[in-house]
Amino acid sequence: MSQATTKRGGFGGKLAAILAAAGSAIGLGNIWRFPYITSENGGGAFILIYLGCILLLGLPLLIAEFAVGHNSKCNPIDAYAKLRKGWGWLGAMGIVSVFLIMGYYFVISGWTLNYTIASATDSIGSDFGGFFSSFTTATWRPLIYTYLFIIANHFIIVGGVQGGIEKASKVMMPLLFAILIILAIYSLWLPEGREALTNVFTPDFSKVSGSTFLAAMGQAFFTLSVGMGAMLIYGSYFKDGTKIAGTAISVVSLDTLVALIAAVIIFSAGVENENGPQLAFVAMPKVFSTMPLGNIWATLFFLLLGLAALSSTISMHEAVTSYFVEKRGMSRNKGAIIVTVATILLATAASLSLGDWSDFKIAGMNIFSLLDNFTAIVMLPLLGILTAIFVGWLWKSEDMKAELTAQGGVDKATYPVIRFLLRYVCPVLVSVVFVFGIIEFIKNL
Ligand code: PFF
Repeated sequence: MSQATTKRGGFGGKLAAILAAAGSAIGLGNIWRFPYITSENGGGAFILIYLGCILLLGLPLLIAEFAVGHNSKCNPIDAYAKLRKGWGWLGAMGIVSVFLIMGYYFVISGWTLNYTIASATDSIGSDFGGFFSSFTTATWRPLIYTYLFIIANHFIIVGGVQGGIEKASKVMMPLLFAILIILAIYSLWLPEGREALTNVFTPDFSKVSGSTFLAAMGQAFFTLSVGMGAMLIYGSYFKDGTKIAGTAISVVSLDTLVALIAAVIIFSAGVENENGPQLAFVAMPKVFSTMPLGNIWATLFFLLLGLAALSSTISMHEAVTSYFVEKRGMSRNKGAIIVTVATILLATAASLSLGDWSDFKIAGMNIFSLLDNFTAIVMLPLLGILTAIFVGWLWKSEDMKAELTAQGGVDKATYPVIRFLLRYVCPVLVSVVFVFGIIEFIKNL
C-alpha cells in the first residue's frame, strides 16, 4: 500500500461534497433512463415502487458507502480491506463494474455531444429515427464524439480532486439545474403538456409485475451510483466534520427531484407512447421541432443531458483512477492515462457493436447491451447485497456508529433505523428481487 506516501486530495467544503456527489448521481440515469423505464412500467405505479426502493434501499446504501469511504480515507479496494481484513475484493468488484458501465455510458455521452451540436446547427433534419440509427450505427462519427467526451473527462480528472472534480462540479451543477428549471417551466406552460402529464403520472397497476420491482430497484441503485466505489471514493474526500447522512439525504433529494422533473419535461412534450432508449434521442428532437424556437429548446435539452453525463463519468473515472494512484503507486497523470486508454478501447467495442460488429453476440446480446444488462441486472444487486452485509454485519458497529452519530450528524434515534435497514431489509429484499429477476431474465433470453 503506498497511500501513506501519496498526499490525498479532498473537497474544500460541504457544498463541494454535495455538488460533486449529486453530480455523480444525476446523470443519464435520471434524464435518459428514468423516463423511458417509467413509461414502460406503468407510470405512476412504477414511480411509487421506485420511491420505496430509493428510501428503503438506496439511501441506506449510499450512507453506508459514504461512511466506508470517509472512515477509511482510501480507494475502494484498500477501504474494505482496511475495515475488514480480506475484503478488498468487494472494492475490486465495484471497480470492475464501474469500468464496464463506463464502456457503454461514454458512448451515449458521446451521442449527447453530437445531438447538442446538431440541434444548435439545425442539422438533424426531419427524419429523426433515420438520423439516430444512421449516426449510432456508423463507424467513425459516434466514436469521435465518444473520444472527445472521454478526453474532456480525462482533463478534469488530471486537474485533481479540488482543481478538477470540485471546480467542474461547481460550474456544471448550477448550470444543469438552471437548464432543467427553464425546460420544466416551458413544458408546463404548454397546455397539451399538462394533460399528457396527468396521464403518465396516474398509476396503472395492471402493468406491475415481478420485473417492475427489479427495474425499480436497478434504477434506484444505478441513479444513486451505489455499490461501485464512486460514492465511496467521494466519501473518502469529504472533509472531517462533513455530515454523512445529511449529505446523502441532500444527494438523494436532488437526484429524485431531477428524475421527476426530467420525466415531467419529457412526458409533457407528449411522447409517453414512444418507449425505449430512443425516447430522448428520437422522440424529443421530433417534439422540439414542432415548437417555436425548437432548436434552442433541443440544444438546451441535449446540453443538459451532456452535463449530467459528464458530472457522472468523472466520478466513475475517479473511482478507477484512485486504484492506480493509491494501490499501484502511480502518479495521477499516469493512472488517469491508463484508465482513459482502457476506456477508449472498451467504448470503441461498445460503439462498434451497434453497427459494424452487430453480428457478434453473447447470449443474444451485442457488447453494448451486454455491458448494460450484466451490470444492471447482475452486478448492481450483488454489490448492493454485499455492501449491506459488509456494513450491517461485518464492519465493527462502533465504527459505523461513530461515523454516523459523532461527525455524521445523524441523531441517535435515527441510527438504529439505518442499521436495521442495512442488516435486514437491504440484504433480504435485494436478494429476493435479484433471484426473481435473474429467473425472469433467463426465461426471456
Ligand atoms: N448515477 C449515474 C446516473 O444516474 O446516470 C450513473 C452512475 C454514476 C453509475 C457513477 C455508477 C457510477 F459509479
